[in-house]
Amino acid sequence: MYRFIEAAAEILNFSGSSVQITAHTPTVLVVSPLGLPLNQDEIKNALRKSYWRVNVVEETGSTQTDLSNSVRADKAKHGDVLATEYQSAGRGRLDRRFEAPPRSSLLFSFFIVPHPGQENWGWLPLLAGQSAISAMKEVFGAEISKQLSLKWPNDVLLNDKKVAGILSERVGEGVVIGIGMNVITPREEIRFENATSLWIEGFVLLERERLLVEILKAFSTHLSEWEKDEIGVVNRYRSVSSTIGKRIRIEIPGGRSVEESAVDVDSSGALVLSDGTRVTVGDIIHLHQI
Ligand code: BTN
Repeated sequence: MYRFIEAAAEILNFSGSSVQITAHTPTVLVVSPLGLPLNQDEIKNALRKSYWRVNVVEETGSTQTDLSNSVRADKAKHGDVLATEYQSAGRGRLDRRFEAPPRSSLLFSFFIVPHPGQENWGWLPLLAGQSAISAMKEVFGAEISKQLSLKWPNDVLLNDKKVAGILSERVGEGVVIGIGMNVITPREEIRFENATSLWIEGFVLLERERLLVEILKAFSTHLSEWEKDEIGVVNRYRSVSSTIGKRIRIEIPGGRSVEESAVDVDSSGALVLSDGTRVTVGDIIHLHQI
């Protein structure tokens, strides 16, 4: 069997195919779509009945920076999405870098202008986290939900490791939300011990187009629910949060850290601690269940 796998891999390499072949176990042959470019037509077609307008570029500094600049220059409107195969200056929360090898991840930003009646914009990135979970359930089936959760504010965890990160920034009249999801990223390219990719966790048939489409569809559904009444969204967040109910350490920008128990989220999206403190910014480390 090993020999067959090696031979198959050689044939594929030799022919220059963009399909990578990987042996997960001696008896299972798995094909990963590593290297296949994002199909913009497929994405546009799947979203033709929605307000999303997706533009895919091969490479850029950061989709978040580009789209924010377009908004400031009055060249972007509600529903504009910018996706890329590679970012040379990808940005994470708290001024960190966000890096991913070309075509390994889903990297995109979108601009939305919330309904004027809804003031609690702190909820928007949390809606994005919920949308990533909804999308993965749609793509991989409901069983995946047991493996998924949100670490406050909106890191998407798969088997308790970060599979996607979300960055949300107010720009102009609205918000630019960026999502970076590790899809086909191999283990050796994951820089943090507590991070993972769908591929590493054993998910195959990973079409980034499908994930992108389902995240955007889920976001527009969750957004309109939230614009009408936030209670459903708040309850859904509580049900997928792996932070609520845990003893946590909060690392506050500036170097201070605090240990407390997380008991809820409030209507502004802030994390509520057992001593009544409301946390709006910081890094959370889960310690143990309370
Ligand atoms: C985090 O986990 O700290 C947030 C990561 C957000 C990364 C995404 S990738 C697409 C968009 N463009 C960026 O430069 N950042 C966001």
